[in-house]
Amino acid sequence: MATTERLTATESTADTILRVRDATVSFEMDRGTARVLNGVDLDVKRREILGVVGESGSGKSMLASAMLDAVEEPGRLTGEIIYYPEEGEPVDVLNLSKAELKRLRWEEISMVFQGALSSFNPTMSVRGHFTETLRAHDADVEAGMERARELLSDLYLDPERVLDSYPHELSGGMSQRALIALSLVLEPNVLVMDEPTAALDLLMQRSILALLSDLQEKYDLTVVFITHDLPLVAGLADRLAVMYAFELVERGPAAELIRDAAHPYTRALLKAVPNLDAPLSTMRSIEGSAPDPVNIPDGCSYASRCPLADDQCLREDPGGYGAGPEHPVSCHHWRRADEAVPFETEVGE
Ligand SMILES: Nc1ncnc2c1ncn2[C@@H]1O[C@H](COP(=O)(O)OP(=O)(O)OP(=O)(O)O)[C@@H](O)[C@H]1O
Ligand code: SF4
Ligand SMILES: [Mg+2]
Repeated sequence: MATTERLTATESTADTILRVRDATVSFEMDRGTARVLNGVDLDVKRREILGVVGESGSGKSMLASAMLDAVEEPGRLTGEIIYYPEEGEPVDVLNLSKAELKRLRWEEISMVFQGALSSFNPTMSVRGHFTETLRAHDADVEAGMERARELLSDLYLDPERVLDSYPHELSGGMSQRALIALSLVLEPNVLVMDEPTAALDLLMQRSILALLSDLQEKYDLTVVFITHDLPLVAGLADRLAVMYAFELVERGPAAELIRDAAHPYTRALLKAVPNLDAPLSTMRSIEGSAPDPVNIPDGCSYASRCPLADDQCLREDPGGYGAGPEHPVSCHHWRRADEAVPFETEVGE
């Protein structure tokens, strides 16, 4: 029975802009090989907002870096990453030359790295950051600065004032918005943002999210929003992908996933949130801890924390089930998850 069920997990790929297959990142360490991204499959759909959520250390930043072949040495990335431009041939991201990769980053897929605020050069004005980026890509600086001003005002910033400022003269929220404008100045189609609001207060996080949603519509963007804060993205994302222990354990349309979460871990995350409108600090934690990337157990990585774990879970990889046609889940017993991990969550606006 399990075999037929597993065949039902068929996500349609027609409108895919970025396809990730079997993405794996490993580091050789003294105590063995650490697998910090473990065989991740994901399709990012054109013009969607995809929320990637998971607890700290689950591999979210590794996944983001993998998408742009930007995993730092000595990490080793294998698998397949294909970018599908609106017109033209698919691009095999892991086989690009340095120059092609430089063009792809910023001009097709742009990334706001985790902690990127600190990468602002303190001795250079914000204008300098924009002109330097435009020059580095041989773009028309005048037209580019026109776009920069438009983006800054889309983000409710006073363009001239911000361009004339030095990074330390801006508040956290202003810097983050300036960084988003910078990442969009070369007109990418995809924006990947890794914890872009983590350092900001709740109100600023929410307002940046609302602005992102407006930008997504205005510029036909595809947005991948990475966060450990499920309540934060729940209301914004079209689809959600949940990471646990270096793997994606469940993904699907956001509303369906919140209502009918099929993986015990997703359900535990939702159970930990009394109300999706509440700040993350009110979340209860989930007992136990995730496996060590050097010793990922056979079978299901969540088994040591899961109330449904049995022998099959300890032996067999739980990948490949479908809780709906667009809702893959890695759990042998997902049909029983709602009884085992009940929750009631109010989805806030
Ligand atoms: N340079 C490295 N060498 C070895 N292991 C690493 C290295 N960088 C990260 N890791 C490990 O890779 C795993 C995944 O890290 P990653 O940064 O992707 O997690 P994350 O989900 O982004 O966490 P956070 O929410 O804290 O940003 C973690 O276990 C981390 O300790
Ligand atoms: S496969 Fe088993 S251990 Fe893993 S989440 Fe499902 S029920 Fe729990
Ligand atoms: Mg991270």
